[in-house]
Formats: sequence, structure tokens, C-alpha cells
Amino acid sequence: MQDLVSIKDVNKRWITSIFKLADSMQSKNVPQKLRGKVLATLFFEPSTRTRLSFHTAAARLGIQLLDIESMSESSMVKGETLADTIKIIDGYADCIVLRHPKEGSARLAADLAEHPVINAGDGGNQHPTQTLIDLYTINKLKKKIEGLNVSLVGDLKYARTMHSLLYGLAMFGAKITLISPKELEMDPRVIEEVKALFKAEVRATSEMNFRNCDVLYVCRIQKERFADPYEAVRMQQQFRITPESLKGAKEDLIILHPLPKVDEISPEVDKSKKVRYFEQARYGVPVRMAVLQSIMG
Ligand code: CP
Repeated sequence: MQDLVSIKDVNKRWITSIFKLADSMQSKNVPQKLRGKVLATLFFEPSTRTRLSFHTAAARLGIQLLDIESMSESSMVKGETLADTIKIIDGYADCIVLRHPKEGSARLAADLAEHPVINAGDGGNQHPTQTLIDLYTINKLKKKIEGLNVSLVGDLKYARTMHSLLYGLAMFGAKITLISPKELEMDPRVIEEVKALFKAEVRATSEMNFRNCDVLYVCRIQKERFADPYEAVRMQQQFRITPESLKGAKEDLIILHPLPKVDEISPEVDKSKKVRYFEQARYGVPVRMAVLQSIMG
């Protein structure tokens, strides 16, 4: 495979092969087939997990790094375009990981670069490696994805993690409930697409009921994509996960989150055994190692 711009670029077979490869990346003897290759990580939006887990993944595989941490660190601050920046970096590195606030930026980069481009998040559009981590975590903790009742809660309009994950869950046959404020509902065209492609069971509601839920996946309201940040805070209050909202939930319910989290999960729930998001974040390293091995190998 050349690029990983969208979760739509890959199929169930490839994702399953990534699960197996990610398992093997947690052994003591990690393959060093990529030793001497160069990976460029360009982050034009803040990141903790994606950037640092790609760095750790690269270090464990013997890959050298070129890193730009912010727009102000690059000549883009002087007015150089993203297109020219990509063409230059493509001449230095064997693969480019790009995070950028504009939707479509990763596709543009992939079209311009001769080397593979991995989308580390383009605006509110896609975050495919996060979805691979999410699917890997669900499969690891629940031993399957097909048939599970998965609720996606929060900002379904602007969160790129949710857009990618809906597609990934539908591909694997999960039953999906979308829970959000009316103003932050998932684009109905995306829902229709996964229903048509995968015959997926998807229903949308604003009711916080988790009685039949196996996996509760929460994301924060994406305040930075709101014109009025106070509106984001108001919506966050309404869709907060508290012990009250989890009353009647299954004993083996797991709670996941792409992180960072702000105030969408109460401190009492944060301490619960149901919470597995720190483990989920740790899988970022082996899953991204597997992605680099598959794409750069
Ligand atoms: N989940 C995620 O993308 O986290 P970062 O923004 O910290 O990379």
C-alpha cells in the first residue's frame, strides 16, 4: 500500500494484518528491516499521542526522524506553501506523516509526494491511524468487533476520530449508536454511505442510555472548531459521562477515548475499571509500528 490518507483507503483484510503485526511488535525481538530509513513527521496542529507514538514507533524500528513540531518552526511562516513544503520533504524522507488543520491536506500531500504519506489528522476529516488503534483495542479487549453494541458519544460533526471510526466499525460489523447534541450530529451522508457499503446497523439519538452497550467511545467537543467557544462548553455539560449516566450499564462495558479528554468524563468515572483509554493510547506504539512496517517495508 502506498498512502494512508483515509480509513476508506484500506480493507478488513489489511486491517486484520495490522492487528497481527501489532501483536508481533510487542515481542522482544522487533524486526529491524527499516533500519536506516528516514521518516518525516510534520505537525501543523498540536499533538501529544500521535506525534510521540510515531516517534517511539520509529525509534523501535531503527528509523531516523525528521521532525517539524509546528508551522512556526518551518519556512511556511515565511509564506511557503504546503505543496512546496511537501515536495521538499519528499526529497529528504522515505515517508511523511502529516497533521494539518485543513481537510484534504493529506490527500493533497499524497498526490504530490512520491513517497508514502500517512494522515495524522486533517482538520475534522479523518484520522485513520487512530481508528486502527481503536479497532485493535476493541478486538484485543472484547476478542471480536462484529456484533458488538458500540456507542459513539460527543462531537460527531467535527471530530475526525469519529468519522474514521464509524467507517471502521461498520466495516467490521459492529452495531453503532451515535449520541450527540442535535447541532453536532454526524453528517447524514456519512451514515448513508456506511449503511449502503456495509449494510451497517447505525442509529442516531440524543439519549444517553448505555444499558446494552459493550463499548462506549467518547470524544471531547472540538472547541477549536467552534466560532463561539462558550457554545462548545454548554454542549459539553449536556453530554458528560457520569456515574449517573452509567447506571444499568453492563458489568463488562469498556470506555474508550482517543484523548485528550477535558471535562466530558467525570473524575469518578475516570477511576472506574471500565475505563481503558490509557491502555488504548499505549497501543498507539505497536499499531503505528505495524503501519510503518507495512507502508515503508
Ligand atoms: N488522539 C490523538 O490524536 O491525540 P493527539 O492530538 O495528542 O495526537
